[in-house]
Order: sequence, then C-alpha cells, then structure tokens
Amino acid sequence: MIVTIDGPAGTGKSTVARILAERLGFEFLNTGAMYRAVAYACLQRQVELANTTAVGDLAGTLEILFSNNHLLLNGLDVTEAIRGQEVTQSASIVAANPIVRKRLVELQRQVGQGGNLVTEGRDQGTTVFPDAECKFFLTASPAERALRRQRELNAKGDAISLDELLQQQELRDRRDESRACSPLKPADDALQVDTTEMSLDQVAAHLERLVQRAKAELDASFQRR
Ligand code: DC
Repeated sequence: MIVTIDGPAGTGKSTVARILAERLGFEFLNTGAMYRAVAYACLQRQVELANTTAVGDLAGTLEILFSNNHLLLNGLDVTEAIRGQEVTQSASIVAANPIVRKRLVELQRQVGQGGNLVTEGRDQGTTVFPDAECKFFLTASPAERALRRQRELNAKGDAISLDELLQQQELRDRRDESRACSPLKPADDALQVDTTEMSLDQVAAHLERLVQRAKAELDASFQRR
C-alpha cells in the first residue's frame, strides 16, 4: 500500500510521514531531501543552478540513498547539511529542472516497488504514485508555517525574523506552484487536512485512522474476490 503526503513547506509533512510510517511499519520516503541533496551537490561543485543541462547531468551521476532516516549522498551523510538556508532556497530552483525531476521520480518509484510506503513531497499523489491507495494534502496558514520553520532554525541556533521567513516562503511557494513540470497542487482524489490548529501528533493520529480504515476496506474487497 502506498500513502502519499503532499503539501507546501511547514505543514508538517516530513514529521507526520515519519511518525505514520513508524506506526504502520511502512518504509518512509522524504523526497524533499532528495531535491535538497541535488541542490547541495550543485553548491559544493559550483554548478550554476540556472544551467539546466549541467545540473541535470550532475543529478544523473549522484548516488542518493536513505539509511535509517539519514540521507547518504555518494556515501556521505548530508542529513544536517541539506537543512541550511542556502540549500533550502536552491532546492526550489533545482526542483523546477525537468531533467532532475525525471531522475528523482525514477528513484522514488524504485523505492515504491518495495510495497508498503509512506512518501512525502509535492508531487507524490499527482505524478509519482497516481494510483496510490491513500493520498493526503496538508495545508496550514502562511504565518503558522513560517513560525514552525523559525522554531526549527532557532533550535539549531539560527536566528531569522518571521518577516524574512515569510518572504522566503512566499518565493518558494510561487516557484513550486508555478513550475511547468509537476507543480505543487493536490491530486483530485487527495484528502486535504488543515494542520494550522493541530499538533503534529494529532495530525499523524488522524491520518493513521484514515489509512487503517482504507486498509481494512481494501482487505475486505480482496477477500470478497
Ligand atoms: O519539502 P522540502 O522543503 O524539503 O523540499 C525542498 C524543495 O524541493 C522544495 O522547494 C520543494 C521541492 N520538492 C519538489 O518539488 N517535489 C518533491 N516531491 C519534494 C520537494
């Protein structure tokens, strides 16, 4: 069974998807981290982000693997390094590159072949796994999303104003929603959940109930055949 969780940054997707995967005993895939890894590699090697071919060529050579929720880029653990501000902004540029998307979608589908998966991103329900059995699209108010990102950065000792974060968030949202290739949008059959007033544990519990219900219905329909 494939569960997709899409939505803009700061809606709690990664945390909720990780908790949900743990509770269900499913694999967890954080596809945003894959785009971040490509952006990180470009910055490291000083590849111009606007050079679609050069960025696409580089993406084709990278080995991107997850191990115990750590991201290994060519064997190096970059889990923390890809969370910084520069990588965050660069990732949304790289994510608009169709060559990069094609490559990462292939890798994501390979992970999906393993069977039970909770995967999060922007296009998981629309493009990567259009036949997924359970699709969610998380939202939250822009102010709440920026506040969550500020808390994440503060915890790492990075001080940044809410105004600046709101501006950066708006720019990333615009890039993610307006790109030609797999723009951020809910799948027609995705259930939308507004997480503004909910804790991430509450969101995870809510989604778990819905997945368990869908799973029971699927099991019952298999038995009827
Ligand atoms: O979720 P995140 O902030 O880690 O994602 C980093 C960037 O990658 C963000 O700009 C959106 C983009 N992205 C995407 O285009 N498609 C995905 N499946 C996942 C992330």
